[in-house]
Amino acid sequence: MSPDAVKILLVDDEPTVLSLMKSILETQEGYLLDVATNGEDALAKVEATQPDLLITDLKMPRMGGEALADAALRVRPDLTILVATGNGTLQGAVELMKRGVFDYITKPFLVSDFIDRVNRAADIVRCPPLSKDSQAVIGSLMTALETKDPYLKNHSSRVAALSRQLSVDLGLPARRVLLIERAALVHDLGKIGVSEAVLHKTGPLDKDEFDQMKRHPVYSADIIRPLKEFKDCIQDVYHHHERIDGKGYPDGIVGSEIPLGARIISVCDSYDAMASDRPYRRGLPWNAIRQMLIEARGSQLQSEFVDVFLNRMDQG
Ligand SMILES: [Fe+2]
Repeated sequence: MSPDAVKILLVDDEPTVLSLMKSILETQEGYLLDVATNGEDALAKVEATQPDLLITDLKMPRMGGEALADAALRVRPDLTILVATGNGTLQGAVELMKRGVFDYITKPFLVSDFIDRVNRAADIVRCPPLSKDSQAVIGSLMTALETKDPYLKNHSSRVAALSRQLSVDLGLPARRVLLIERAALVHDLGKIGVSEAVLHKTGPLDKDEFDQMKRHPVYSADIIRPLKEFKDCIQDVYHHHERIDGKGYPDGIVGSEIPLGARIISVCDSYDAMASDRPYRRGLPWNAIRQMLIEARGSQLQSEFVDVFLNRMDQG
């Protein structure tokens, strides 16, 4: 079993339903399964075996799914919970989501729907949302950066939204989409380490200035390295200025050597840099940007990604 396996605890008082859910999930890779037939046993297992994902029935004798979810979230606030509910208890499931349950599925369910819901919950487990502390750290650094260079105002959040859309349009799995969006959000934080004289210079940079600018992806990666939620974003951040032809920085790697997320962010970053006002020019019109993105196909940017991006933008 892979060390990334998601530990799932299935809870239902109906043995047939329990074994059905278990046998469906046994056809999927990456899950480590355990079962409980009542809420009390399940709660004991939540504490003893630390599952990542709890999938529970709502109507059970003694401790029902609602009480189980509440108690489980008290001992494990980070636990992802999926409730399986009959139509009669749908309102209860919706109420539970307001109190921290991730999702619900109505019974009887289609096998494909069940697998989809579980996979989606597992994606969240593998890529948990940012903690409040990490959000605060990143928010403060973002404010510091945008104070230092007002032309970067909202650049990162725009590039994150565009990178998310392009990743979805490329058909990437949910976890990958989340990680690329997250990497895009922090890709330029390292500009905090670049002097204002270089950031604000209106003319071409000389060699020393450009060398300093070329360090910013390295600084960005250094800044996020201590935050565990960014562990799988570091490479995308570090390489976001590489070019397909190898003439980028910091490492000058080529084509598919460049991490996928970095190639996606690069397209969106280029677009936003051209579309935004700079000290020395206004943001460019869409037709001019479109032409420049086409010219960058296969040299600076990955051709297929540019095509998908243009297609989306052309649709408005
Ligand atoms: Fe950058």
